[in-house]
Amino acid sequence: MKNAVSQFAFFGGPQLFMEPKPTSDLHRPNEDRFFSYADSIFETRQFTNNGPLVQLLEKRLAEQHGTEHCVCFCSGFLTLLMCIHALALPGKTEVILPSATYRRMADIVRWAGLTPRFTDIDFETMGVNRALFETQITDKTALLLGVHPIVNMSAVTELEELSRDTGIPLLMDSVEAAYGTIHGKKIGSFAKAEVFSMHASKFINAFEGGYATTNDAELAARLRVIRAFGFEQKDSISELGCNAKLNELHAAMALSCIDELDEQVAHNKAIFNCYKKLLSDLPLSLVSYDATEKRTWKNIVVRLTGDWGLTRDEILSVLQAENILARAYYTPPLHKKFPETASLEFPVTEAVTSVGCVLPSGAHVSEEDVANVSSILHDIYAMRAQLKEEMRDERHR
Ligand SMILES: Cc1ncc(COP(=O)(O)O)c(C=O)c1O
Repeated sequence: MKNAVSQFAFFGGPQLFMEPKPTSDLHRPNEDRFFSYADSIFETRQFTNNGPLVQLLEKRLAEQHGTEHCVCFCSGFLTLLMCIHALALPGKTEVILPSATYRRMADIVRWAGLTPRFTDIDFETMGVNRALFETQITDKTALLLGVHPIVNMSAVTELEELSRDTGIPLLMDSVEAAYGTIHGKKIGSFAKAEVFSMHASKFINAFEGGYATTNDAELAARLRVIRAFGFEQKDSISELGCNAKLNELHAAMALSCIDELDEQVAHNKAIFNCYKKLLSDLPLSLVSYDATEKRTWKNIVVRLTGDWGLTRDEILSVLQAENILARAYYTPPLHKKFPETASLEFPVTEAVTSVGCVLPSGAHVSEEDVANVSSILHDIYAMRAQLKEEMRDERHR
């Protein structure tokens, strides 16, 4: 497709894609379905404050995750913050979490007034397990914050055992594991609670939103109080509250998406298989899904292997210039961002985050787009020596 270095958009050639190709889901549900849910808001005239659509959404989500309770919030960020606040052991100050994860996770811990304590990850799953968390436990540990990575799963049953053995509560960030199962058991039904995002880029699109699932009735009731200013009853405040409610219009959007999850998964799976076929002769490994379990097949993660001549970030710059919004895998890892933890050594985190890339996927990406992305990657690899030379010359100009 590109026969000379000058044809790459990075060096002034025409862009491969007119529209950006994102790594996010951005699912657009059937409009009639959305408007029929939205119309009901004008009939009931309840726009927010735990309205009928939020209640229906919570019921549907609880069924989907096989849990007794689901509590919706206005974002995944605030869902995590409220759950950390509700679950952290009183008088303790540290939250254990992986360094290779969502970029704002340490900030959330800090908003809760606690200190993040980072762990390395497992090379195969890119998630966390008991051994990794156990080494970080101290007498200050307030909470175990497990996070599922964007393709595989963390060893959540091991983390549950650790939580049982130590009495330290386990909260899971399962944003990227929505819809999944582990040995047939639904994600959402593990740990003390599990947290999900419904941001437009996530598996269920509520424009913005989040939710927590739990089988603990007391916790669910507390979360409902906390998300609505801390009011237990009219004029009686029992908790440090917040306004973190989900409104009815956002619930309408989420409900429309829930009705289409299987179609979305089928599309994602076709995209994954297309990448698998077309990238198989390049020196990279595509991180695979466990096809024996339920998965969203949403994220496309590759690790560069072999000699590309170019650094991972140089390759990403060439792709991005073509309007391919490929990005680095959780880079920089969180411990690098804080002076007090920057010198910690997490060899697997380093190894994975220095070669990992996330490639375009989701509703905006077709099989033809995948063929084009693959073709550019082949061109980059074939012309790596010339590209490197041109980039060096560019820098010297
Ligand atoms: C793993 C993970 N947790 C939490 C969040 C926060 O969710 P939200 O964007 O809904 O606040 C995100 C958002 O990207 C995420 O990727």
